[in-house]
Amino acid sequence: MEDIIRQIEEKYTALGQNPETYLKGLLHSKPLNYWDYTQVDALLNLQTPRTDFADEMIFIIYHQVTELMLRLIKHEIEQVVFSDKLNTDVFVEKIERCSRYTEVLTSSFAVMSRGMNYEDYNKFRLSLAPASGFQSVQFREIEIYTTDLINLVRYDLKDKATTIENSFDYLYWLDAGLDRKTGKKSLTLTQFEERYLKQLIDLANKCETINIFQKFTAVKTTDENYKALKTALRKFDYLFNIKWPIVHLETAESYLIEKGMKRAATGMSDWQKYLHPSYQRRIFFPNIWSEEELKNWGNFVL
Ligand code: HEM
Repeated sequence: MEDIIRQIEEKYTALGQNPETYLKGLLHSKPLNYWDYTQVDALLNLQTPRTDFADEMIFIIYHQVTELMLRLIKHEIEQVVFSDKLNTDVFVEKIERCSRYTEVLTSSFAVMSRGMNYEDYNKFRLSLAPASGFQSVQFREIEIYTTDLINLVRYDLKDKATTIENSFDYLYWLDAGLDRKTGKKSLTLTQFEERYLKQLIDLANKCETINIFQKFTAVKTTDENYKALKTALRKFDYLFNIKWPIVHLETAESYLIEKGMKRAATGMSDWQKYLHPSYQRRIFFPNIWSEEELKNWGNFVL
């Protein structure tokens, strides 16, 4: 006890504070409880259905669950990106965590694909236009934190992307909402850009030399953790850019295809084509895949 009091005294004295004030404050402060710590009341009040269909609650909550898992992925990635002295064993551990979170997202997607009434979903979703999961900014932030921007530029437009700013005119994900011939953008895309484009360009500038791809490139092949790191990055690339897109696409197909006919999605994309990983070719670490794997991107199981 004396030792702890001495350490408290030292800590606050070093901060130029009176330790007695803090000890008295401790005497009067209330013990913590679970609901205040986890803010569970706030969390459980963040759902605002737009219709009376009971299953809309599942749709909202599962999107929120996904956003929280994306937050966890970002939390790990940010530590790698902003670390000055990164040990490669920590690097491996962080990427393995990202894969674990992504696995949770792929294995739980049945909550969507099998968990909602088909007719009800196809009614309540009409009240949600033009909102779309496409507008998830965390999804785009993870991409930008993880790889060089050029790897997010559509594969056949790479020559045109010469600066960070102009690369944003050629990103693969514009194909969900931009008619590249007429230059016309969907409302879903316009809304998203108005809200987030500047912030994403800033992030891309900030991450240009410190993103995960750059950090990996700086690791020497002789490093004792090089192989484990490569394996971890391959797994994360596969899970985030092939496995999750496939389960997501299969879910879209289970609700939006009827008698072989494709229904329009709320974001109005040519979704069946756009969402397939072999079309998107979103590959965070192209230099760790074989030519064969790159050729078959989206069509193999790791
Ligand atoms: C019944 C469930 C779902 C269906 C039918 C569905 C459908 C679609 C469709 C058709 C698109 C293409 C854009 C558009 O035209 O709207 C899309 C994009 C997207 N959705 Fe979903 N989605 C579902 C659930 C989810 C969930 C739970 C999330 C989690 C946040 C999500 C995240 C995304 C993301 C990030 C994109 C953009 C993907 C990319 O650019 O590669 N979706 N979704």
